[in-house]
Amino acid sequence: DPVFNAGKNQWSSSAEEGYVKMFLKGRPITMFMPRDQVDGYCLEARAELPSNKLKLDWVYGYRGRDCRSNLYLLPTGETVYFIASVVVLYNVDEQLQRHYTGHTDDIKCLAVHPDKITIATGQVAGTSSDGKHLAPHVRIWDSVSLNTLHVLGSGFFDRGLVCLSFSKSNGGNWLCVVDDSNDHTLSVWDWQREERMAEVKCSNESVFAADFHPTDSNIVVTCGKSHLYFWNLEKGMLVKKQGLFEKQEKPKFVLCVTFAENGDAITGDSSGNILVWGKGTNRISHVIPGAHEGSIFALSMLRNGTLVSGGKDRRLISWDGSYQQIQTVEVPELFGPIRTIAEGRGETVIIGTTKNFVLRGSLEGEFVPITQGHTDELWGLAVHPMKPQFLTCGYDRQVSLWHSTTHELIWTKNMEDAAQSAGFHPSGAVVAIGTQTGRWLVLDTDSKDLVTVHTDGNEQLSVVRYSPDGNFLAIGSHDNYIYIYAVTESGRKYSRMGKCSGHSSFITHLDWSVDSQYLVSNSGDYEILYWIPSVCKQVVSVETTRDLEWATYTCTLGFQVFGLWPDGSDGTDINAACRSRDKRLLVTGDDFGKVHLFSYPCSQFRVRYHRAKYLPRPPQLPLALPLKNNTVALVPNHRDTS
Ligand SMILES: *[C@@H]1O[C@H](CO)[C@@H](O)[C@H](O)[C@H]1NC(C)=O
Ligand SMILES: *[C@@H]1O[C@H](CO)[C@@H](O)[C@H](O)[C@H]1NC(C)=O
Repeated sequence: DPVFNAGKNQWSSSAEEGYVKMFLKGRPITMFMPRDQVDGYCLEARAELPSNKLKLDWVYGYRGRDCRSNLYLLPTGETVYFIASVVVLYNVDEQLQRHYTGHTDDIKCLAVHPDKITIATGQVAGTSSDGKHLAPHVRIWDSVSLNTLHVLGSGFFDRGLVCLSFSKSNGGNWLCVVDDSNDHTLSVWDWQREERMAEVKCSNESVFAADFHPTDSNIVVTCGKSHLYFWNLEKGMLVKKQGLFEKQEKPKFVLCVTFAENGDAITGDSSGNILVWGKGTNRISHVIPGAHEGSIFALSMLRNGTLVSGGKDRRLISWDGSYQQIQTVEVPELFGPIRTIAEGRGETVIIGTTKNFVLRGSLEGEFVPITQGHTDELWGLAVHPMKPQFLTCGYDRQVSLWHSTTHELIWTKNMEDAAQSAGFHPSGAVVAIGTQTGRWLVLDTDSKDLVTVHTDGNEQLSVVRYSPDGNFLAIGSHDNYIYIYAVTESGRKYSRMGKCSGHSSFITHLDWSVDSQYLVSNSGDYEILYWIPSVCKQVVSVETTRDLEWATYTCTLGFQVFGLWPDGSDGTDINAACRSRDKRLLVTGDDFGKVHLFSYPCSQFRVRYHRAKYLPRPPQLPLALPLKNNTVALVPNHRDTS
């Protein structure tokens, strides 16, 4: 028998027996091929590249929970912000998105050049799929062409980047950057020459903002935990002057900074005070005590000289040139505290919130969401069997149903438990949600009403899947069991039939046969087991299982898909797989945020694939990917584009 050794993985095939053996973490996994393939099968045959490619179409969500100053309106009419490793340029009125996808891991900060076209974004350190360190860096790019102009600081920055700002008075030639190293190094760059002009340890505590003075590019202001510093750039050195609070009680955190037209610096802090610092000094010239109840997260100076502040109290307050309050609006609790404020078109203001909403409105009136997303890890993803809809749920206890053509949120519902998994009934009428606690529930898809609740074990339910005929529900748990229910009345009535016991590790994936008579399951220790669910019996006969046709293919282990495993895989890096409904394509999601597109079946070890970096998930491939940073990215439901 031929044996092919490719990296740490090893595959072998046996022509007489008709199987392929693969080793993952030293464990042998034997996968039998269908009888009619035994004669012609060749392990080392070269598999074809899929004729389709992946293109990112839409990104849902915004990262406001733990990032600041990251929302702007561009002259193109697009609102620019980021989530995960994608920068979104969203034209709300025309319902169009463009994406800058040059980053290799999560973006944490963004700055717009005074020309309003050039954009800088900074990312955290990442790991490539071959285990290489991806250095944190700044990318400077053109928001019209989306071309990358410069890459700064690969090899200089230690950890992720947290603050970025362009200078304003000298043609925007300089960029200041603060990284997330222990010293929170502040560096100033001549970005067109890609040269570092100066660097200094900024603070051993968190830094929240860094900005150039609007009329003197030699002055940079930084603020953060127990600090406000005015830096002067003198002969390649950054010289620090501390903000003197004098009679004013020193706030625990100085959270944001902006500038008045006359050059005064204005800060917002965790005591709810707005402090004004006389131009060119480190002394307070004016105090607005108790401007907000609690922390002030954002300050923005509008074109007409009106100052707008926003904070934890969800209030947006405008102030005139002599710091008299003009107007106050409070955004509803649902949207959360105000994280960042940007001036929109005409009289509109755009705000980002810590609950990951982007809202649009005016200082007089109501704010409406233009983008929203989850606020904690997202694990459950299910696609409606007929309609262009999908459902998401996660550890924020929120279940959301989305329209994949209009991109609108259809409904959202809060649950008691953190959600782990989801699956639609084939009728589309109901959807089952598995939680982290062993509880699972069924919701009416149209009304979002609760249909039923059950509990099986007390561990997380990693997969819930209805049989194609709609008469059974299989629930895979971290307690190593698969619970089987009989389903009647189009998904409204459930009675437990038993549990499939035999796996020695937690259930990771499961699929039903086309005739709803068999189940196949994968587990955390790379077992593939087959079952007759109606009697909860394991099937060990190869002759029974090798020719079964599967209604879905989400298992990552099996003869039809083993080629998705990369060389040297330790078995943990592929999280999800999904076959397209037309059975021509297989898509996978990995630990590194990459999506790979293969031809199906994927039964050679030297397979070729297309790669998309940013978790696109075609709706006709109901791939339940655990997504980073609450993003769902979708590719349109077109047969020809996948
Ligand atoms: C930062 O430095 C101050 C003064 O040297 C010290 O009190 C504080 O514990 C330090 N904080 C951290 C996070 O190291
Ligand atoms: C300044 O602009 C804001 C936002 O466009 C608007 O609400 C406000 O009325 C303007 N103030 C003045 C004094 O024009």
